[in-house]
Amino acid sequence: MGHPRRTSALRKVARREASRKLGHSGLIPYNQFMHSIGILLSGRGSNFVAIADNIAAGRIPEAQIAVVISNRADAPGIAIARERGLHAVVIASKGRSREEHDREVVAALKQHGVDLICLAGYMRLLSPWFVQQFPGRILNIHPSLLPAFPGLEAQQQAFAHGVKVSGCTVHFVDEELDHGAIIVQKAVPVLDGDSEHTLAERILDQEHVAYTEAINVVIRGDYHVVGRRLVRREV
Ligand code: GRF
Repeated sequence: MGHPRRTSALRKVARREASRKLGHSGLIPYNQFMHSIGILLSGRGSNFVAIADNIAAGRIPEAQIAVVISNRADAPGIAIARERGLHAVVIASKGRSREEHDREVVAALKQHGVDLICLAGYMRLLSPWFVQQFPGRILNIHPSLLPAFPGLEAQQQAFAHGVKVSGCTVHFVDEELDHGAIIVQKAVPVLDGDSEHTLAERILDQEHVAYTEAINVVIRGDYHVVGRRLVRREV
């Protein structure tokens, strides 16, 4: 274990560095800096709820949810956001071009001062333009151990393939589907008695843990990315 005073000083430096990387002035003292998370979802929103609960419980210090945006008015997740008194915005995607929709979503995120975006069951591909608006600041969760089983119904794909271990991945979003650098993965064994449903449920439990862990890694900024590898620095 390092010297306590030195360790704390290093943490401060790491946090300032994180703020700088996230595009904020180094003049903002790290302890007055609140990260503003924007959640994008299309469905039930259990990952959003887990993130919100973990923020409320102090497990994601220095972060708040600035806005929850759904492309579907009937998404249960957006109703939960409203019930919780969060800014909840529906930006319907149906019948609109990707570019037009993305521009409206990005405008709403910027209007709410978002500096970290968490895709939580957002069933839309982001355009390259969208990704470029928030470099290294968009996270996604996927219910498999990437690069295995990208795309839709990953749990079913894994189950049907007969793998003995599956899990979930939180990764940075880049221009390709389910592709950016991996931040956190959790393995989940596939049991002989599993169905697609029971496997998906156990993976979901781990998703709720993994997302918070990944958000904390990104907020602390105590990592660097070498090629595709996110390597945590010792602080
Ligand atoms: C999760 O399985 C997530 O990994 C995937 O979409 C699902 C969303 O679930 N991207 P929820 O809406 O967060 O409950």
